Amino acid sequence: MMINKRLIQTVPGSKKYIALNVTLQWLSLAANIVMIGAIGFFLQALLTRTENAASVIVLAAVAAGAILVRFLCTIGAARMSHLSSKSVKKTLRHKIYSKLLRLGGAYNSKATTSEVVQMSVEGVDQLDIYFASYLPQFFYSMIAPITLFAVLCFVNWQSALILLGCVPLIPISIALVQTFAKKLLSKYWGQYTALGDSFLENLQGLTTLKIYQADAKKNQEMNTEAEHFRKITMKVLTMQLNSISVMDIVAFGGAAAGIIMAVSQLAAGHIDFAGCVIIILLSADFFIPMRQLGSFFHIAMNGMAASDKIFRLLDLPEPQEKTGTAPQNQCDIVCSQVCFRYDAERDILKNIDVRFPQGSFTAIVGESGCGKSTLGGILMGRNTPYQGHITIGGVELSEIEESNLMQTITYISHHSYLFRGTVRENLLMGNPNAADGQMWEVLEQTKLAGFLRSEQGLDTPLLEKASNLSGGQCQRLALSRALLHNSPVYIFDEATSNIDVESEDDIMEQIYRLAKTKTVILISHRLANVVHADNIYVMKDGCIAEQGTHAQLMAQKGDYYTLYRSQKQLEQYGKEAAV
Ligand SMILES: Nc1ncnc2c1ncn2[C@@H]1O[C@H](COP(=O)(O)OP(=O)(O)OP(=O)(O)O)[C@@H](O)[C@H]1O
Ligand SMILES: [Mg+2]
Repeated sequence: MMINKRLIQTVPGSKKYIALNVTLQWLSLAANIVMIGAIGFFLQALLTRTENAASVIVLAAVAAGAILVRFLCTIGAARMSHLSSKSVKKTLRHKIYSKLLRLGGAYNSKATTSEVVQMSVEGVDQLDIYFASYLPQFFYSMIAPITLFAVLCFVNWQSALILLGCVPLIPISIALVQTFAKKLLSKYWGQYTALGDSFLENLQGLTTLKIYQADAKKNQEMNTEAEHFRKITMKVLTMQLNSISVMDIVAFGGAAAGIIMAVSQLAAGHIDFAGCVIIILLSADFFIPMRQLGSFFHIAMNGMAASDKIFRLLDLPEPQEKTGTAPQNQCDIVCSQVCFRYDAERDILKNIDVRFPQGSFTAIVGESGCGKSTLGGILMGRNTPYQGHITIGGVELSEIEESNLMQTITYISHHSYLFRGTVRENLLMGNPNAADGQMWEVLEQTKLAGFLRSEQGLDTPLLEKASNLSGGQCQRLALSRALLHNSPVYIFDEATSNIDVESEDDIMEQIYRLAKTKTVILISHRLANVVHADNIYVMKDGCIAEQGTHAQLMAQKGDYYTLYRSQKQLEQYGKEAAV
């Protein structure tokens, strides 16, 4: 419980630093013993009036040497702590990072991003203290009392035994405090996160609270919560202070017991004055390392908790290395008997048979929640594992290497991410080699060029998530970036939802144009947009319910027909109402 073997094996490079650190601390202790021995003998000489010039010089030389050794050892030990901390941080962060790379784009289905960030920043920092301070201290606090005991046995074994016997009382008292502290700490964290949660929620919903004039009541609730939190914080602080006091009482009590023993041995004439002085001066050193360990203990506990999380991440199963490549000039997509589920309870896709021949324009329509985006996600290699077969140009999708897949298919949804920076930087993501002329060409196509010229052209700055652009402009920019990517297949997943009619028409025009040369898969709620498609799949509850061209589907008078008619009517009403 006090030492985590796996953790040490994970950072084998730290072993030698820890060993050197302990050795240096031990040497420093030895120097201290020598110095105190010299002082003892000198005082003895003074007392018996046998001191002379030679003995003073020898003593001074010994003391100076011992002080120098201690000085060098302290610096050395600090250096070792630093080196081990460096190797720990580097090794662990490297391990986490390369693990994430191996997990690939789907990592966040297994660990949330905030968790990973917390792990690799705070978690690693806490482990750093574990390796740089706690572990060396752990070994040193075992060796130090034994060394002192071995030396003091020659002076007076009774006193040495008492001192050694009192040392384990410190870890015992820590363990006792710990059982009580655990309950208190978990309560503390509970209140802390609860307060944080309600604070964030109330802050985010402040406008709503104002509208319904519920802010005063929430304010009161938060005050009560904050007061609870203050009280428990005070309790935790009291507990920590008390635990330090307990350790101090044990440490000083133990030293006092040893000193009393030494003095009574002196009185009984079993030891000389020098021996008594040496025991008195060294008694505290029995306890100081263990007490120091106690103060590192709670940080080490946090570090252990963090390491559990880190190991959970490092132990996640990895997808196999894929080597397949889809032929870029012949990439018919064929799905046969594809089934998929996110969790065991519910099948989302059921025996889907669809084809997207090279260069064709295919639409997928269907009610919200029927599984359209899920199918798109599978084609992008995001939703794994799927059952059945999906081939791109004859190569099984699950075999295709990620970068090759990304080069083959471009996915555009209504929330494509735009990054803080400039328009140019965002466009270059689509094609790092694009020249300015090419960029203006696509911006011209998406009708964004005019607006950008009135701003700062390609250097127009974008805020986070492009919040300084309108929804329609964002979508046009995302489309421009996708066009620059120039892949043989494009999937548009509701790429025109939430934007104005004019932007929608502009974007649809580009999609139709693109469909003349590329494979286009268009997922859309609005059936008016899919009328021109070569083939339309109508999905219902995870199955393909109907398929065909617009004319064929209308003739069938099935679900598509009903949906198309009702949408048409709605739009008609809308137009009439507008007039
Ligand atoms: N990450 C996920 N984890 C679990 N279930 C999910 C997840 N994503 C989607 N689902 C479920 O899968 C079903 C299909 O979702 P999907 O997003 O594919 O629907 P959709 O057809 O794209 O709908 P919409 O037209 O509203 O975009 C839904 O019932 C949804 O609850
Ligand atoms: Mg969807």
